Amino acid sequence: MSAVSSRAWVLGAFVALAACSPSAPPAPKGPPLGATGATNAHGLPELRNPFANDANAIAAGAELYATHACLTCHGRQLTGSMCPSLVNDVWVYGDDDTTLFNLVRDGSAGLRAHGYERIGREPQGGDMPPFGATLDDKQLWQLIAFIRSRHATPPNATRD
Ligand code: HEC
Repeated sequence: MSAVSSRAWVLGAFVALAACSPSAPPAPKGPPLGATGATNAHGLPELRNPFANDANAIAAGAELYATHACLTCHGRQLTGSMCPSLVNDVWVYGDDDTTLFNLVRDGSAGLRAHGYERIGREPQGGDMPPFGATLDDKQLWQLIAFIRSRHATPPNATRD
């Protein structure tokens, strides 16, 4: 084996190991996908869903909703059960993209750390858990696109 190819092999093995290791530190992150360049009143990068109204994103979001425990807490029809409805007109912290993205990624505690307070009251209390460790930015936007698509549905319509 030449010096060059053995060095390439060692490098390849290292990259493979780093990719497989569960304790590999996450890559440094820039602003989230969809950042407009502005900052909101809480000092967070202002975001706009790049997949809003996109039919493929809505379908992907529906799948994620069913497979990432959202359904367990918010119900199959998104009307809430143990947790708030996602299809009524009450939004606990606000209904803008920036707020919803940060809420699903970092949970209620993450929003409060940025000075958010509950401005809307739903009958169910409790905190929203963070999903940023298991969902990437694109998946978070797909979920939000899905929720918004269902929010426009008249209350008595059944689509499942
Ligand atoms: C363990 C239960 C639980 C799970 C699982 C859960 N949520 Fe929540 N969610 C909550 C609670 C509780 C709130 C209200 C948070 C608060 O008042 O601080 C909430 C709030 C929300 C809101 C804002 C609703 C409003 O009326 O303002 C959205 C959007 C949301 N969740 C989306 C999701 C998505 C998407 C998932 C799956 C990735 C998910 N949630 C999984 C419990 C849950």
